[in-house]
Amino acid sequence: MTISETITKLAQQKNLTDSEFIALLSTDVYDNLLHTTADKVRRQIYGDEVYIRGLIEFTNYCKNNCYYCGIRCGNSVIERYRLSKQEILECCKEGYGLGFRTFVLQGGEDPFYTDDMICDIIHEIRTTYPDCAITLSFGEKSKESYLSYFQSGANRYLLRHETANNNHYQKLHPIGMSLENRKQCLFNLKEIGYQVGSGFMVGSPFQTLENIVEDLRFLQDLQPDMIGIGPYLAHEQTPFAEYENGSMLLTLRLISILRLLFPYALIPATTALGTIDQNGRELGLKAGANVVMPNLSPVKFRKLYELYNHKICTGEEAAQCRGCLERRVKSAGYRIVTNIGNVKR
Ligand code: 5AD
Ligand code: FES
Repeated sequence: MTISETITKLAQQKNLTDSEFIALLSTDVYDNLLHTTADKVRRQIYGDEVYIRGLIEFTNYCKNNCYYCGIRCGNSVIERYRLSKQEILECCKEGYGLGFRTFVLQGGEDPFYTDDMICDIIHEIRTTYPDCAITLSFGEKSKESYLSYFQSGANRYLLRHETANNNHYQKLHPIGMSLENRKQCLFNLKEIGYQVGSGFMVGSPFQTLENIVEDLRFLQDLQPDMIGIGPYLAHEQTPFAEYENGSMLLTLRLISILRLLFPYALIPATTALGTIDQNGRELGLKAGANVVMPNLSPVKFRKLYELYNHKICTGEEAAQCRGCLERRVKSAGYRIVTNIGNVKR
């Protein structure tokens, strides 16, 4: 089969064999065809709409020590911060005024916030903004904890699986973290009733194309509503400081493949994609992404939430990012809409 036939097959059957995936991932010659095919599917379901999510990075403390991540507990150089309930609510207030109808509470795994504190914050946002989605993204918790957040009013949870290959997972994480537990968390979240998002880094150290196919297979098994991917980017205060960044072209290729595999998925053009290239997010949208997640965190803390070096948007106010994205999305040929932006399954 030629690559262009492979793309047609992927669009029609929403699946490929492992070797067809590898062949498609291995060449950039058909990227144009792949991106336009994915964009067609995206427009059939979502038109030219792009959903916005207000990201609130509420703590950069983390008890984990992932080898790739800048806020790992072993990084003794960075200054740590936590937002109070009041500060989080102020971010929501500002975001609401700017048209955001989804708030994403993202943070490291920070035991300072007890389940009671988190539930209290969620409940307050839920009561103040009944027309908004509340998305959580702060790692692995017990099923009971996830359930209590859900009952307090949270709707969505983002937890990237990072890699679906056990060996590879162990190379990215210290002993004590397991892929098995991470997968279990994702299935628990689904069972509770969350809209679930997963995903992985593209080009993380030791990743092979075969690993990426395993990531796609895992996602087929999970059937997530949201799928976030971005290039791996080095952070100087990590054991992986010297490893090369991931590839933008491979990331874009994967966004298109994900769109064709999961036509309904909410797929963000991520900050990492915007960091590796000035035009990364625009290209991500054209390749099939339909979500952008600008930052609502207070500007004085933004630089401190540094998962990787050179992260964009760390000096801009929320309103500036909102305006900037409005222009960028428009220039790519799409339109920001300010509704809740649920999955169109
Ligand atoms: N480069 C790119 N992405 C990263 N993440 C963490 N560290 C890095 C890095 N160095 C991603 C992980 C995590 C998400 C919040 O950010 O996939 O799940
Ligand atoms: Fe933040 Fe452009 S989106 S400055």
